[in-house]
Amino acid sequence: MMNVAVIGSGTMGNGIAHVFAQQGFAVALIDISQPALDKALGTIGKNLDRQVAKGSLSAEDKTAALGRITTHTSIATGVQGVGLVVEAATENVDLKLQIFRDLDQHAPQDAILASNTSSISITKIAAVTKRADKVIGMHFMNPVPVMKLVEVIRGYATSDAVTAQVMDLSRQLGKTPTEVNDYPGFVANRILMPMINEAIITLFEGVAGVEEIDTVMKLGMAHPMGPLQLADFIGLDVCLAILRVLHEGLGNPKYAPCPLLVNMVMAGRLGVKSGEGFYTWG
Ligand code: CAA
Repeated sequence: MMNVAVIGSGTMGNGIAHVFAQQGFAVALIDISQPALDKALGTIGKNLDRQVAKGSLSAEDKTAALGRITTHTSIATGVQGVGLVVEAATENVDLKLQIFRDLDQHAPQDAILASNTSSISITKIAAVTKRADKVIGMHFMNPVPVMKLVEVIRGYATSDAVTAQVMDLSRQLGKTPTEVNDYPGFVANRILMPMINEAIITLFEGVAGVEEIDTVMKLGMAHPMGPLQLADFIGLDVCLAILRVLHEGLGNPKYAPCPLLVNMVMAGRLGVKSGEGFYTWG
């Protein structure tokens, strides 16, 4: 079984490390901050405990999974001997490009470099490396241990062999991989974000209130949470950034972010992470 490195120990990174470790992969979890890494290990432990509590994982398997995760504060040491790197750092283009330059320099030459980006072009990321055929998108959904989808994004130069390997690795994680091409927002966010934006426009125009809009979509369309609650979970800043990628990249005014979303982000109302978005969070 290949060794894996995960870059970034935030919500997505710790979820990705969790599922790889649970399925038997040795995982190097890499972040610049040791306290962030320690916090991530605590979160993974708690999420594994939920699975133990409901009987889908034994206590021994939990301990074994945690034992497969090592933490590192340097890319150069963390990626030694790995076959796959999954980058899940902050969604910032310049940061990601720098990480991929570093990965290309330090990871074994045949290692696959995957990004969990939700909307940055895989082709653009691949172009800063000397192995564009081995760069691919592995877009996990939050919460990673629960959600079955991995959106596998082929960049312009991603090879068939690497795509097949990543599809297979995703299946080994118990996920259902879905292959898509590299265009703005891929498939998941190209469809999800216009729905969230429309929900915000519906609120902005006074058609209905927050809870009414979410209730219609929850009970009327069997969505597990309404679009405004989901936006709070994703982060309103992330929603805005993705809508801007769609708007610019596809050049169609239908993707223009609702002015209310822009204002809320400027006001620092980012959803769950700031304590306040469309709802107030504890
Ligand atoms: N780790 C392990 N297990 C977890 C977990 C975690 N982090 N979070 C939740 N669970 C488990 C719970 O233990 C529970 O298990 P059982 O049902 O077996 O007891 C189950 O998941 C459901 O959790 P809860 O009962 O606490 O809550 P819920 O029924 O409201 O479900 C939810 C929570 C799964 C998050 C559900 O509300 C949901 O599906 N929400 C929508 C999620 C979604 O749309 N995600 C995609 C966001 S978009 C994205 O990620 C990509 C992007 O690019 C923006």
